[in-house]
Amino acid sequence: MDVFDRITVGVCAGMVLLMLMLRGGGVEGVGVNWGTQATHMLPPRTLVQMLKDNGVSKVKLFDTDEATMSALAGSGIEVMVAIPNDQLSAMTDYSLAQKWVNHNISRYNFNGGVAIKYVAVGNEPFLSSYNGSFINVTLPALQNIQNALIAAGLGDKVKATVPLNADVYNSPVSNPVPSAGTFRSDISGLMTQIVDFFAQNNAPFTVNIYPFLSLYGNDNFPFNYAFFDGATPVIDNGIQYTNVFDANFDTLVSALKTVGHGDMTIIVGEVGWPTDGDKNANIGNAYRFYNGLLPKLAANVGTPLRPGNIEVYLFSLIDEDAKSVAPGNFERHWGIFRYDGQPKFALDLSGKGQNKLLIGAQDVKYLPSQWCLFNPNAQNLTTLGDNINYACTFSDCTALGYGSSCNRLSTSDNASYAFNMYYQVQNHNPLSCNFQGLAMLSTKNLSQGTCSFIIQIASSSSPVPSLVACIISAVIFLALCT
Ligand SMILES: *[C@@H]1O[C@H](CO)[C@@H](O)[C@H](O)[C@H]1NC(C)=O
Ligand SMILES: *[C@@H]1O[C@H](CO)[C@@H](O)[C@H](O)[C@H]1NC(C)=O
Ligand SMILES: *[C@@H]1O[C@H](CO)[C@@H](O)[C@H](O)[C@H]1NC(C)=O
Ligand SMILES: *[C@@H]1O[C@H](CO)[C@@H](O)[C@H](O)[C@H]1NC(C)=O
Ligand SMILES: *[C@@H]1O[C@H](CO)[C@@H](O)[C@H](O)[C@H]1NC(C)=O
Ligand SMILES: *[C@@H]1O[C@H](CO)[C@@H](O)[C@H](O)[C@H]1NC(C)=O
Repeated sequence: MDVFDRITVGVCAGMVLLMLMLRGGGVEGVGVNWGTQATHMLPPRTLVQMLKDNGVSKVKLFDTDEATMSALAGSGIEVMVAIPNDQLSAMTDYSLAQKWVNHNISRYNFNGGVAIKYVAVGNEPFLSSYNGSFINVTLPALQNIQNALIAAGLGDKVKATVPLNADVYNSPVSNPVPSAGTFRSDISGLMTQIVDFFAQNNAPFTVNIYPFLSLYGNDNFPFNYAFFDGATPVIDNGIQYTNVFDANFDTLVSALKTVGHGDMTIIVGEVGWPTDGDKNANIGNAYRFYNGLLPKLAANVGTPLRPGNIEVYLFSLIDEDAKSVAPGNFERHWGIFRYDGQPKFALDLSGKGQNKLLIGAQDVKYLPSQWCLFNPNAQNLTTLGDNINYACTFSDCTALGYGSSCNRLSTSDNASYAFNMYYQVQNHNPLSCNFQGLAMLSTKNLSQGTCSFIIQIASSSSPVPSLVACIISAVIFLALCT
């Protein structure tokens, strides 16, 4: 480009920066959740580049993994880091909380470091299914982390918050409207203390809202109310609610009002729609959901009780094939990108109808195009069921379930799917494609319709590169010793 182009670009960049600053607080656009519970992961640098290519300027992590943090350093991307639930009890000791802040926050606070904006203390610690395990540790951990941030001179820059599931508040069954929202009765005292602490520190309330789960848990749930394109309204004091996202968010606004903080900033820490693993989890429904949510967010309409901009993190960036399926088979399919960083659908993340669609990860390295399939010449099928079970226990067969993308396979293709998933998880280890003679290697791609017989990515955890690394280090070692 010539010098005039440079000046134009410079002036434009300056104006954009100024506009962002005038907006007061955060950068524009939606954020995304970046989870790492996968057997194979793209290198963090590849994913950071993908975030940049897609104009994503905010991410929420579930830890402070060093490789991820160093890939984010200097990117300008705003980050919410996290302390996992199993570390909350340690954080009730102030000296350990201080160490955590020094090691995981202060360390990245330099020019060209990581733009950490929030620390998530725990992840949905009061979820009913945890049976109160984190009830006594969450508030002390929160206090210690925020106080340690203040002591480190970061109190204004970094805020501690607690991402909570929307099950911490509700409306009475007798009056199920947003204006009747209160905190869940078993934790109402604790929630009041937590909210007071957020207020003292000017920290936001973070909530995860899942219209998909409203539908999943309840066959009587009005289907269209989970989306944003028109449903029979629920009327509350003359306000018409046409989607459960708004209704849920405003139930929280009302609950905050009951404890004297009706104007507290609310961040939506997770919201999204899965694409497989349930009859309602598919690309069509996910597309419908995001194509309602994103334009709504871009238009800054907010909710009836909270008009204006809402800070939101989509759940999630990428599929995670090693997540627990205790909540349901859909749990491994929340990504807007597939396991290999390729977009699942043509989505305009800006929500502004600019026709700028998702851009996939670049230069993805795959294992060779080889599949492990059911051997049609196998004679004795007595142990087929056990072998499929084994394959599925150590890999991801959630696509085979009822209503899922591979549910209509023939019995033998079904076995092939299971064997292949195991073989891919095992990085094409030849020993992993035997199954007592029931399986064989093949170059035939059995993908059909929505059902994809995948080839895994060559991840850093695959034995091939680590073998190379091992040989290289052995060579260096020998060279040094002779
Ligand atoms: C920093 O975070 C990592 C990962 O989240 C954790 O394993 C480590 O213990 C933390 N460091 C300290 C000093 O607490
Ligand atoms: C909670 O309690 C239920 C029923 O007693 C039990 O099945 C479940 O494993 C418990 N969960 C945790 C996280 O302790
Ligand atoms: C939390 O503290 C209360 C009161 O001290 C105690 O009764 C309860 O067992 C504790 N819960 C857990 C999970 O430690
Ligand atoms: C088939 O395999 C099972 C289990 O290995 C064995 O018990 C059975 O005898 C075999 N059947 C035949 C016909 O070989
Ligand atoms: C395919 O395998 C899954 C997982 O083991 C099983 O639930 C399902 O019933 C099988 N379907 C057929 C057609 O064999
Ligand atoms: C397998 O076939 C599917 C459907 O035709 C295609 O999308 C996919 O890229 C193929 N996989 C490989 C590794 O060639």
